[in-house]
Amino acid sequence: MDRRLFLASTLCAGLSPDIAWGAQTDSPLKQLAAAKGVRYGTSTGTHALFGDAGYAAIVAREAAMLVSEYQGKRAQLQPAPDRYDFAALDAIVAYAQRHGMAMRGHTLCWYATNPPWLDVQMKSDLPIAAKRKLLTDYVAKVAGRYRGRIAEWDVVNEAIEPADGWPLGMRTRNNIWAVLSERYIDMAFHTARAADPSAALFLNEFGIEAATSWNERKRHALLLLLSRLKQRGVPIDGLGIQAHLRPYKDKFDQEVFATFLRQVTDMGLRISITEMDFSDRGGSNDPRQRDIDMAAAAKAFLDVALDNPATRTVMTWGVTDRYSWLTSRFASDPWPNGGVARALPYDANLRPKPMRTAIAQAFLDAPARPRWRRGAA
Ligand code: XIL
Repeated sequence: MDRRLFLASTLCAGLSPDIAWGAQTDSPLKQLAAAKGVRYGTSTGTHALFGDAGYAAIVAREAAMLVSEYQGKRAQLQPAPDRYDFAALDAIVAYAQRHGMAMRGHTLCWYATNPPWLDVQMKSDLPIAAKRKLLTDYVAKVAGRYRGRIAEWDVVNEAIEPADGWPLGMRTRNNIWAVLSERYIDMAFHTARAADPSAALFLNEFGIEAATSWNERKRHALLLLLSRLKQRGVPIDGLGIQAHLRPYKDKFDQEVFATFLRQVTDMGLRISITEMDFSDRGGSNDPRQRDIDMAAAAKAFLDVALDNPATRTVMTWGVTDRYSWLTSRFASDPWPNGGVARALPYDANLRPKPMRTAIAQAFLDAPARPRWRRGAA
């Protein structure tokens, strides 16, 4: 753990989880964020949102924005070539509208979580024009369906993968790239813009936050891609930074991350933190200490993200450890104490953790920013 993080953690160490940094931090996160021109929200799913009243109460109190964790992906929305199933996503969008919340859309084009039939057709001897339509028809249908109701779309997710060996670090070992090459990104963004001119359009990426050589390689490839997209006139409004952070494994350097954010916003792009969580794997056996360490990591990260005036959205990937994807994602490698990942602001018993206080304090400490207009980051 680097020195800054250690210092922040030491600062937090004096706090018991139930002593806030100041009474103000008890205010709803959405309220503290909105005071600085930022939207705070969380991913969610219909099972918990409509089946767990205690969880739903936290979402309603804390979030100004929702994004579907898994029910907005193509495998869920288009299980067969001629069959769409929007019921779950419609329910989440309707819930958001009833509660005065905004929506993020996730995600229109991803190499993963596609229905099997799509991979079959992309690998078939269909003409390229037909395969291109498989991409653009889907983007048009989904973005068109929610026209005016999605504030931000993750149009393309995880386009960078230097390990695939492509000179420019692109993710190439998938059926979309095999057929359409890099121009799949252009097609997706142009189609999304035409389908919903009101939505802000994002490229979403992970592994670009930490001061590791691997994250540096990804940042470099991503900045080159963003520059090419801007040069080609691709209608991209912002970069989504997933922020699945691993504080015990990956060194985080505030200057490195701040410099990267400036390089992105100097291109006229805005920033959304889209899937923030803090994996406590690798920490002490004392869950209270891990909670304090993760809170310090959250504060160190958000201080930098929110210091940049182009950061307008902060989403956690869930709001309680009761439903963290990290627990199921790494089920083969159980979490310490045989428990769950302690990666989110509330624990599995729906109690606020030091991380919630840290996120609240980060919003309190953040500079205010003017309302966003397209074209001005
Ligand atoms: C994950 C969800 O959390 C899981 O529930 C689902 O089964 C698979 O997708 N980066 C992303 C998200 O962009 O879409 C992934 O979400 C987590 C990693």
